[in-house]
Amino acid sequence: MAIVGIDNDMRRYFFGDEASTAKTQQDLGKLQVYNHEVLDIRDWDGVNALFKKFGFAVGAVIHTAAQPSHDWAAKEPLTDFGVNALGTMHLLEATRLHAPDATFIFTSTNKVYGDRPNTLPLVEKETRWEIAKNHAYHARGIDEEMSIDASKHSIFGASKVAADVMVQEYGRYFGMKTAVFRGGCLTGPAHAGAELHGFLAYLMKCTVTGKPYNVFGYKGKQVRDNIHSHDLVEAFWQFMKAPRVGEVYNIGGSRHSNCSMLEAIKLCEEISGKKLEWTYKEDNRVGDHIWWISDVSKFQSHYPEWKYKYGLREILEEIHKACVSAA
Ligand SMILES: NC(=O)c1ccc[n+]([C@@H]2O[C@H](COP(=O)([O-])OP(=O)(O)OC[C@H]3O[C@@H](n4cnc5c(N)ncnc54)[C@H](O)[C@@H]3O)[C@@H](O)[C@H]2O)c1
Repeated sequence: MAIVGIDNDMRRYFFGDEASTAKTQQDLGKLQVYNHEVLDIRDWDGVNALFKKFGFAVGAVIHTAAQPSHDWAAKEPLTDFGVNALGTMHLLEATRLHAPDATFIFTSTNKVYGDRPNTLPLVEKETRWEIAKNHAYHARGIDEEMSIDASKHSIFGASKVAADVMVQEYGRYFGMKTAVFRGGCLTGPAHAGAELHGFLAYLMKCTVTGKPYNVFGYKGKQVRDNIHSHDLVEAFWQFMKAPRVGEVYNIGGSRHSNCSMLEAIKLCEEISGKKLEWTYKEDNRVGDHIWWISDVSKFQSHYPEWKYKYGLREILEEIHKACVSAA
């Protein structure tokens, strides 16, 4: 088995040196099965040539390359769309031409639902916003039936919608084994957290290093569900073992692993034994979700072997360890 990783460290261009993924690339380079290609997924000739080289030997394509920030996208909409939409199109088309039997997994985002989740009936609690108890989403979170249409997505959300729908279409139209995983917060100890992206990783980094942190709007009570990269990769693995065609799944920490900003700060302080220096800014980020918890029961019903290994505390403990050893 061989693994080819495509990454041009564009994350460094988006968010600066501290967000570079070069270290992960170096670490992966120590694995014998891993081969790195510094390639821009916007470069059709390069992508096409690489897929042509491996052709039918490609068993699966796991596409996680992106401009991943809501806020950054508005700075350079053309770059955002080029990476997220056109880049995805290139990978899909190269797969169709050279490895049409391969499984194609795409990491989409809950931002494809735009700000529609903010129209849900929310109740203010002491440390978090919560959905009303009698609402259908209370028990398990938001499912895939929520409309992705007619809401404010942000430029990033819209470029991911384009990619998300195209990945579905290559399944439905061409019969390819494609899956869209719409992520809540995806994280882990190797996440290169930056202010504009990678909330838990950046929060812990600031707590450990004493760097000031800004909380934007919603009284710091906005809720996110958080999944460890291990559990996400395990979900991909389950899908790869028994792929389906043109599927869409919400994936995240669900009711199992979630927190508000205030709760996350408290937990970071508890684990690190340090006080976070943070400032509250009244204005929320445009279109930012107030409450998001992913309902993962559709995925669980298709892949009942999939189980969470990590809860919120374990995720933060691992991130803490990584921050301490990097400091
Ligand atoms: N982290 C989250 O909370 C979260 C939430 C929902 C969805 N997602 C999605 O999951 C995926 C992975 O997210 P992440 O947090 O690991 O982001 P990340 O920025 O850490 O990883 C994306 C990688 O893509 C690379 N890349 C960017 N543009 C490229 C290009 N043109 N060519 C080649 N490589 C390029 C970057 O250098 C980076 O290493 C993305 O699709 C993102 O939208 C992430």
